[in-house]
Amino acid sequence: MKIVMLGAPGAGKGTQAKMIAAKYEVPHISTGDIFRANIKNGTELGRKAKEYMDQGLLVPDELTVDLVIDRLSQEDCKKGYILDGFPRTIPQAEALDAALAKRGEKMDYAIDVDVPDENIVNRMSGRRACTGCGATYHIVHNPSGKGDICETCGEVLVLRDDDQPETVQKRLTVYHDQTQPLIDYYTTQGILKAVDGTQDMNDVFTAITKILEA
Ligand code: AP5
Ligand code: MG
Repeated sequence: MKIVMLGAPGAGKGTQAKMIAAKYEVPHISTGDIFRANIKNGTELGRKAKEYMDQGLLVPDELTVDLVIDRLSQEDCKKGYILDGFPRTIPQAEALDAALAKRGEKMDYAIDVDVPDENIVNRMSGRRACTGCGATYHIVHNPSGKGDICETCGEVLVLRDDDQPETVQKRLTVYHDQTQPLIDYYTTQGILKAVDGTQDMNDVFTAITKILEA
């Protein structure tokens, strides 16, 4: 089962990807999480990525594509994976397809979690992210039972640097310009499935499982 999660920033890609990964026992690969881990660990990649992320811009394809293609060749990806936040540009999608084709493989589903822009800014301002394990909460829709502390790893929860309202607006513009064209790209391939991402997160998950088990 090889899945690409599509959707605007804050649509719930990460939330759903984690639930799918747990149910179907495949790895959840989030480029955003990989970059944030590199920033936290002070790596050269993290330093470069942060310059773009803090402005709401995409990290250049040269820093992104090989990283993901390498990750997909690891042993735990043999039975499939969920890509969250990659591909995000047409060149990234083409590079991914080329790498899969070399192995005689192809993507199975592209799931678009559809949420209108007007819901997004509100969602992002309530998001809290764990500085330890990257778990995601929402102060209203999905609060941690331990307040500002992560239920899973005990580290502190924070507002992400790129979740300031001005940066969210920029990320939405970048999404419409550079990432939304992937909806047509995967529609043409016949693997695009859209779900209404404004529903309760458990209802979104039910809609996704119906697609995967159809
Ligand atoms: P990334 O981390 O991928 O951010 P993003 O795409 O902007 O998406 P988010 O993680 O913000 O949102 P999400 O859809 O995962 O929503 P979530 O589940 O958290 O990327 C960050 C940056 O890294 C990019 O801007 C770019 O600079 C760089 N980058 C990453 N990948 C790249 C690539 N391939 N190429 C170039 N650059 C790249 O949910 C949001 C909130 O809503 C949470 O609080 C959640 O609890 C809540 N929520 C979720 N679902 C629901 C629901 N159904 N109802 C109510 N609340 C909900
Ligand atoms: Mg995410």
